[in-house]
Amino acid sequence: MFGHALIALLLQAQVSESTEHRVADIFKPMASPAEAEKSIGMLTIGITAGIFVVVAGLLVFTIWRFRRKAGDNTLQEPPQVYGSNQIEVAWTVIPVLIVFVLIGVSARVIAGVENASPPKDVTKVTIIGHQWWWEVHYPDYNFITANEIHVPSSPDGKKATYLQLESMDVIHSFWLPQLSGKTDLVPNRTNYMWIDPKEPGTYFGNCAEYCGTQHANMMLRVIAQTPDDFKRWAQAQQQAAVSATQMTPDRQVFESLSCVNCHAIKGTVAVGRFGPDLTHLMSRQTLGAGVIDNDKDHLKEWVNNPQDPKPGCYMPSLKLTDQELTQVVSYLQTLK
Ligand code: CUA
Repeated sequence: MFGHALIALLLQAQVSESTEHRVADIFKPMASPAEAEKSIGMLTIGITAGIFVVVAGLLVFTIWRFRRKAGDNTLQEPPQVYGSNQIEVAWTVIPVLIVFVLIGVSARVIAGVENASPPKDVTKVTIIGHQWWWEVHYPDYNFITANEIHVPSSPDGKKATYLQLESMDVIHSFWLPQLSGKTDLVPNRTNYMWIDPKEPGTYFGNCAEYCGTQHANMMLRVIAQTPDDFKRWAQAQQQAAVSATQMTPDRQVFESLSCVNCHAIKGTVAVGRFGPDLTHLMSRQTLGAGVIDNDKDHLKEWVNNPQDPKPGCYMPSLKLTDQELTQVVSYLQTLK
């Protein structure tokens, strides 16, 4: 236990700029669903704290008031008091009412976040959970990316993004603490939720359902942009890879390797769907779903042996020669 804590601390110490802030503050909601969830959270805490104070208060009072005193007759049982209908009705009916109030408010908020039917003019995003990364589709724009979900910011609450959540393998849970509560991604089932980040910025999230070895490194981020910036980003993502029209020796090496069986790059022979789409790889901030920064050295480390930064992940080390590694990395770096 202590060992784990120590390792976690050491890991925390080495995370850099873009891979920090792994846990967002649930008490600082930045979108309507998170605000609604925070207020029912506070209501529940308030009511249960009230119950705790009453019950613990009565208990302490009784213990103190009826403690044994000098001169008590210890040989005789104290008077035994049986049933009072009024009291019994009271302590049955009141808790039942409280429970129904809590069920009612919770059900209303859950329905509002998960079953809301989207208005016409919203951004739609489909998110598919994989061990251990997020596949992100923009059906209205027809492109696919991974792990970093760009959405328009919504200062007036009118530019919401509706999310359709699915899973390719096991149950995952989509959680962006500052934007909304957790919603599971379940194989053969589709769940829904929506978010409307009030301000542009980066919001950090995690997979919140244990899904295997690298569950803890299944991180995600929502990048909220002004609607204009978001449009520009989406239009850039729709394009084929910048280098798709020219065949270079670096690209030739990449296409000759088994990379293309798992990864897709629009406009090339790479059409694999098992791993993340790499068409605009260099537009993303991190590699391995938030494990390391996306820069040249880390990219090289990742391609050389993904098992090193992310042990157990499904991308194998291809045991490339130094020459191949250099060429593959320099090709990947053209994927802007
Ligand atoms: Cu996916 Cu935990």
